[in-house]
Amino acid sequence: MSILASRLSRIKPSATNALTGKVAELKAAGRDIISLGAGEPDFDTPDHIKQAAIEALGRGETKYTPVPGTMALRRAISDKFKRENGLDYSPDQITVGCGGKQVIFNAFMATLDAGDEVVVPAPYWVSYPDMVAVAHGTPVFVEGVEANGFKITPEQLEAAITPRTKWVMLNSPSNPTGAAYSRAELRALCDVLLRHPDVWVMTDDMYEHIIYDGFEFSTPAEIEPALYDRTLTLNGLSKVCSMTGWRVGYGAGPLELIKAMNMIQSQSTTHTSSISQAAAVAALTQPMDHLPVWVAAFQERRDLVVSMLNQATGLSCRTPEGAFYVYPSCAGVIGKTTPDGKVIKDDTDFVTYLLESEGAAVVQGAAFGLSPYFRISYAISTGQLTDACERIQRACAALS
Ligand SMILES: Cc1ncc(COP(=O)(O)O)c(C=O)c1O
Repeated sequence: MSILASRLSRIKPSATNALTGKVAELKAAGRDIISLGAGEPDFDTPDHIKQAAIEALGRGETKYTPVPGTMALRRAISDKFKRENGLDYSPDQITVGCGGKQVIFNAFMATLDAGDEVVVPAPYWVSYPDMVAVAHGTPVFVEGVEANGFKITPEQLEAAITPRTKWVMLNSPSNPTGAAYSRAELRALCDVLLRHPDVWVMTDDMYEHIIYDGFEFSTPAEIEPALYDRTLTLNGLSKVCSMTGWRVGYGAGPLELIKAMNMIQSQSTTHTSSISQAAAVAALTQPMDHLPVWVAAFQERRDLVVSMLNQATGLSCRTPEGAFYVYPSCAGVIGKTTPDGKVIKDDTDFVTYLLESEGAAVVQGAAFGLSPYFRISYAISTGQLTDACERIQRACAALS
């Protein structure tokens, strides 16, 4: 009898975490690698947030907090939802976890039984299908094609819903494509959901503030109040305040759901760090003066990377509305041969070739459920980004 549980056979390690590990290994071995794989801003956490953590330590806030998070933090989150999204969530309707990742995990663990289906638009954030599977649910993929900006249509959503559908997962702006749904596009998806009163919506709004060209962010519970009672609105501080290591994410929704998620969390991590929670209060209650500066820097990098990739032979890259990722097509290099005689059969072969030949680390589209593409995170300095894009151009030019 194996010591390992059968649920392990349903999941795989996160491809993006795996790449981070591989890059560290290659760098340690002396290779010159530029990583375009990490899903985190290269900026430092703003000073006033760090200062709040130091002060919390000084006050001795080093003990257990309530499972869903401190009241001060949940009040700050409640105010954020009111101020930025026009949504009323009382502190009781809010749960804080160790990153957005744990909040999503808690939600699936608290709601899915074997055979329950979750509609997951592809390309998707790597962890959604595995988190659904570990909770014994079944992900049902709906392909957001490039011609539609990697977004799903109302007709596709309607066709994917069955009597077993429990959740529809939405993520806008998206990891991995950077694509974001306009208000009208989300409205049309909400209209489909109105026809299916038993289906819930999980909206991952992690990249809410990283949007370009005057794009207006919106979220389902605000667009369609009739969905409020069956929506879990997720957000976090990892991206917006460059706090990936602090592990603070939060969700808001109907009381019954939030209580169930808290129960799951009470039997696992209990809560995220008390110090991180104090820092999060500062992040949410003080002005986010850093944001316009960061977004302007990201936008400049987005324009640079899109332009340089579109000059690479065999690649084509759409300009995304938000986040800090691009999702270029590598259809034009499939079937070509590398200088040492290997045929590029798919996007996995292509990213392996980029890493081996030029030390440019990117993630294959297969990991996100849509090939032949790859994901670039452009949350690195302009100098490094230019270098990386030149490497990719060189690698493409060397194919025959
Ligand atoms: C779409 C999306 N959701 C959730 C997360 C989880 O973020 P964290 O757990 O760091 O808060 C990420 C991180 O990459 C993400 O890209």
